[in-house]
Amino acid sequence: MTTSTTSIGLDTVPDWQDRSAALADDLVAAGKLSSPQWRAAVEDVPRHVFVPRFYLHREGRMVALAADDPGTRQEWADTVYTNTALVTLVDHDKNNGPVYLSSSSTPGLMTRMLEALDIHDGHTVLEIGTGTGLNAAWLTHRLGEKHVYSIDIEPDLVDTARARLAQLGYRPTLVTGDGSAGLPEHAPFHRIIATCSVPSIPWSWVEQTRIGGRILVDVRAGTNAGNLVHLTRTAQDRADGNFDATGATFMGLRHNPGADSRIPYTRTSADLPATTSTTTRDPRTPWTQPVVWFLTAMRLGSSYRIGYAGDPQNGPRAVTITTPDGSRAEIALATDDHGHHTVRETGPVRLWQHVEHAHQIWDQAGQPPWQSLGLLVTPDTQTIYADTIDTPLATIPSAQQTQKGNRA
Ligand SMILES: C[S@@+](CC[C@H](N)C(=O)[O-])C[C@H]1O[C@@H](n2cnc3c(N)ncnc32)[C@H](O)[C@@H]1O
Repeated sequence: MTTSTTSIGLDTVPDWQDRSAALADDLVAAGKLSSPQWRAAVEDVPRHVFVPRFYLHREGRMVALAADDPGTRQEWADTVYTNTALVTLVDHDKNNGPVYLSSSSTPGLMTRMLEALDIHDGHTVLEIGTGTGLNAAWLTHRLGEKHVYSIDIEPDLVDTARARLAQLGYRPTLVTGDGSAGLPEHAPFHRIIATCSVPSIPWSWVEQTRIGGRILVDVRAGTNAGNLVHLTRTAQDRADGNFDATGATFMGLRHNPGADSRIPYTRTSADLPATTSTTTRDPRTPWTQPVVWFLTAMRLGSSYRIGYAGDPQNGPRAVTITTPDGSRAEIALATDDHGHHTVRETGPVRLWQHVEHAHQIWDQAGQPPWQSLGLLVTPDTQTIYADTIDTPLATIPSAQQTQKGNRA
């Protein structure tokens, strides 16, 4: 794994206060920051202390920018105080390339989430995903260290974040462990914010939120399929709320440190018997219809892949959807004279049929946008609905909810 435990001083960026004030101005201008309290946190907390080294993706390569590298130091300083997500922990999987394990999220997304949580003086907040510690620093600036708890699965990240926070005089409670179990010994919380995505809401989070308290998390079924959901614990046995109008994408929650082992793919053979049909739906649904794709992905399992088939000379010819069991759907981008796309499906599951089904459900519900989509969480089921619970659209698989935390 590639990480950085370097500590750097405030004076590494002598004009950091001007830079953080300029960042706050940018976030205000972009409509991502409005409250004076969160503005003060952005201005007063030096982001550069939390990201002495980070990685950017450029032209298919990972590029490291670091405070202690004379060749990249200037660019490092110029990038830190911009509204940019900075990757800070990468694992190198020899089959699948770099896997991002931690990052400092886009500051504008962080402020938007903190403001959406409607945090007040005296609230206690649990953050799932300490990462660099920057969000914990902002929370501590706002609420005081006795009110802030943060947990991460990576021991090195927690140790490093603790040291960097202490350097600034902040001592919130940081814990190493699997945040899907919450932090029962410090519950209940007024707010829970997760900065990693989950396939479904761990019931422990609802249990550990006060009645009337809120949870904000990215619920994500797989690639391109998810969004933030704003939940309120409305009763002992339920939390309810709506998905976000704007959207956000977080890396997934892992139950162990390091990269999850990837499920090997079964290649589909060109000789396998194929079922051919046609569709009038958009083959690019995974990219053009986020709600439909979310509903589809609920049924595909999280390990599907989406992409294009074609060649460099002629460009993409078809959209492809594949799952680890060897199922594959290929949907031609071109249409015939009647506006039909040819669909070719092989393997045990007819994957495109799931997309057709999700389109139908979404159409019947009046094509609700994200913000009209609700999520009702009870101990047994998690239901996605359109406008009211009387229009259920899907049930989230709850298998992962039973995972136990492995607190270190
Ligand atoms: C986007 S980063 C968090 C950014 C962080 N809030 C900050 O301000 O720098 C997501 C984090 O979630 C952590 N994570 C993944 N699975 C987790 C789990 N089961 N419990 C707690 N943290 C987890 C990752 O290690 C990673 O640090």
